[in-house]
Amino acid sequence: MKSLTTALALIAPVHAGLRFPCSTLTFQRLDPVVQPDTIPTAHLHHIVGGNAFNVTMTGDVGARGTCTTCQMSEDFSNYWTAVLYFKHPTNGSYHRVPVVPVQPLLGGSQGASGGLTVYYTQYDLSRDNLKQQPIKAFPPGFRMTVGSPTSSNKPHVGLRYQCLQGQNRGAEMPDFPTKACTGGIFTTHHFPACWDGKNLDSPDHQSHMYNTISQDGFVNAGACPATHPVRVPQVAFETVWDTTKFNSMWTAGAPNPFVWSFEGTQGYGTHADYMFGWKGDALQRAMDKSECFYDGCGSITKQPMATANKCAIRDMVNEVTDGWLAELPGMAKMASTKVARELHV
Ligand SMILES: *[C@@H]1O[C@H](CO)[C@@H](O)[C@H](O)[C@H]1NC(C)=O
Ligand SMILES: *[C@@H]1O[C@H](CO)[C@@H](O)[C@H](O)[C@H]1NC(C)=O
Repeated sequence: MKSLTTALALIAPVHAGLRFPCSTLTFQRLDPVVQPDTIPTAHLHHIVGGNAFNVTMTGDVGARGTCTTCQMSEDFSNYWTAVLYFKHPTNGSYHRVPVVPVQPLLGGSQGASGGLTVYYTQYDLSRDNLKQQPIKAFPPGFRMTVGSPTSSNKPHVGLRYQCLQGQNRGAEMPDFPTKACTGGIFTTHHFPACWDGKNLDSPDHQSHMYNTISQDGFVNAGACPATHPVRVPQVAFETVWDTTKFNSMWTAGAPNPFVWSFEGTQGYGTHADYMFGWKGDALQRAMDKSECFYDGCGSITKQPMATANKCAIRDMVNEVTDGWLAELPGMAKMASTKVARELHV
């Protein structure tokens, strides 16, 4: 599905939805959606977007942001996922897998540093269908997640892995590739398109949303149910994990050696978080346009990625997350806390 869409995109310009790169903002054990008020949180995240990112985030994020790693200069939203690590098959040490921009497919990274590519679509990649289907932008304070680190079942459609062989993305899979990928591992996170219209969040960070999509790729979401009647932009992000320098340590036939920063559930625990933070009505203006804003145009302001790459936040956790590590960040401490607790019982 997606490889067909990709092939079409390379030969003909497409005209619907926003698609833009955001450079890496930080790698930290913070999660203002699932674990607010907590430093550090359970596992490491790769975070992109605005510099209002913080331990706890409420209110109008877009109004507070002063810089963003995203190409769309009015987008101070934050987007994050868990972080991919290589677990050495014989000695058990972990190494963080570098993130590289999603390139050169679909126009490339335009100078992004690491990061991920964000999509907001109204229908699919080539149509907007605005007359039939108005799209309402998220309100300030809105947040949501997809997937779960504790999931032991196949994730729902839209949470997928692809094994990059050169420029070929290959099939979309619900779990990690089972053989080395010469071009890295490509992960996709699609969010639901139907909102209850009332709640900025919900206890599980998901039930204020409803997924009407039943196939992979950038397809139009089906009609929203009465419980979740408000059609919002279809948010998705794509990340490329550059696994190439670890491939020689993965002997043919051995099990997949890549783990998420929480390990545990192998690939089924893939998940992502979204914190809305567009300034004013910028996202609504983008979603109301019916032409030429694939990669932005008109009143939707872009910034050079060289400017975006300068946006930074301070390190609030101060721990080593890169290089060869004996334990995943947070996992050793959790184990010793558990031991301490058991000793006190
Ligand atoms: C993060 O939150 C702290 C505590 O509320 C605040 O002092 C700080 O200014 C915030 N940082 C940013 C970048 O918003
Ligand atoms: C595991 O192997 C890697 C790669 O050879 C090495 O750099 C690392 O130090 C090793 N870890 C341990 C604990 O020996």
